[in-house]
Amino acid sequence: MKRLNSQLQQDGAPLELILLIRTILAGCKEISFRVSQGALAGVLGSTLSENVQGETQKKLDVISNQILKDTLRESGYVKAISSEEEDTVVPCNPDGNYLVSFDPLDGSSNTEINSLIGTIFSITHAPQWMKPDDPSAFLQPGTQMVAAGYVLYGPSTMLAMTTGRGTHLYTLDKTHGGFLVTDSNIKVPEDTAEFAINASNQRHWEEPIQQYVKDLIAGSEGPREKDYNMRWVAAMVGDIHRVLCRGGIFAYPFDKRNPKMPGKLRLLYEANPMAFLMEQAGGLADTGQGRIMEVMPEEIHQRVPTLLGSKNEVLACLSYYK
Ligand code: AHG
Ligand code: MN
Ligand code: MN
Ligand code: MN
Repeated sequence: MKRLNSQLQQDGAPLELILLIRTILAGCKEISFRVSQGALAGVLGSTLSENVQGETQKKLDVISNQILKDTLRESGYVKAISSEEEDTVVPCNPDGNYLVSFDPLDGSSNTEINSLIGTIFSITHAPQWMKPDDPSAFLQPGTQMVAAGYVLYGPSTMLAMTTGRGTHLYTLDKTHGGFLVTDSNIKVPEDTAEFAINASNQRHWEEPIQQYVKDLIAGSEGPREKDYNMRWVAAMVGDIHRVLCRGGIFAYPFDKRNPKMPGKLRLLYEANPMAFLMEQAGGLADTGQGRIMEVMPEEIHQRVPTLLGSKNEVLACLSYYK
């Protein structure tokens, strides 16, 4: 099986980017180990603190964030990082050539039940003019990403990653500690009969998504003329992995409760990396108003509505927005 380095070289990734990716993955392997120890190492449960988004931090949110932050700061490749668990950007090496944004632990609530969780990351170039503590350099549209991916801490530890030359799936071989390519250039089926949405928010949705989901649920007796199945992992990494592997549509749509908080998922370290992976696998990623990767961020923790998945299903959903 092909190793990570060979795949990245084949895809034309420059050496420094390869080294940076390997640094991130070294951090993820440590997270994978901590996560697997669970209650034995006392890493489960909540802390007494809240993050900048007003969420109570789990112990594993804090541990994972610290691991990635330390690893990236020591590496020298990175000028600054932004993280779900950091209020502002964290300055690193002033001479670093890259910026990394990450969700250190996605699906925090699943830590309590030994269920799917992951780490999501995106990488862009660091502009020369940038001061390491300047958040404005992070405000680049997703089209500027040079690499993005997630590591899924499931029954096996998997990596989905793209550098813009297709999306590849890797599996961590714990016997030698390296990621091996287990599926290259994956293609998301264009059609699907599966959707993922938190239906308990239905009353807060806007009209287009209300009508779309109503028609999915109507199944073969409705205008879509086929029966759909629904899944919700409560961790975006799990839901998106399912869609990448077998097709589907994942949606966390605009929510009327709080106009300042459009949707739940964060652009820099959740929506954008997943959009890059999805598009590179032939799927679509939209906000309902346009391509996710073309949204110009206004702040590092900005949230966006998300519709991602099988091409024809996302197009069908978007037709309700016209
Ligand atoms: P995080 O654990 O990083 O805060 O992200 C949780 C996100 C995402 O992973 C998931 O799809 C969604 O929240 C689940 O939302 P619900 O609470 O509505 O199920
Ligand atoms: Mn969180
Ligand atoms: Mn998350
Ligand atoms: Mn998180």
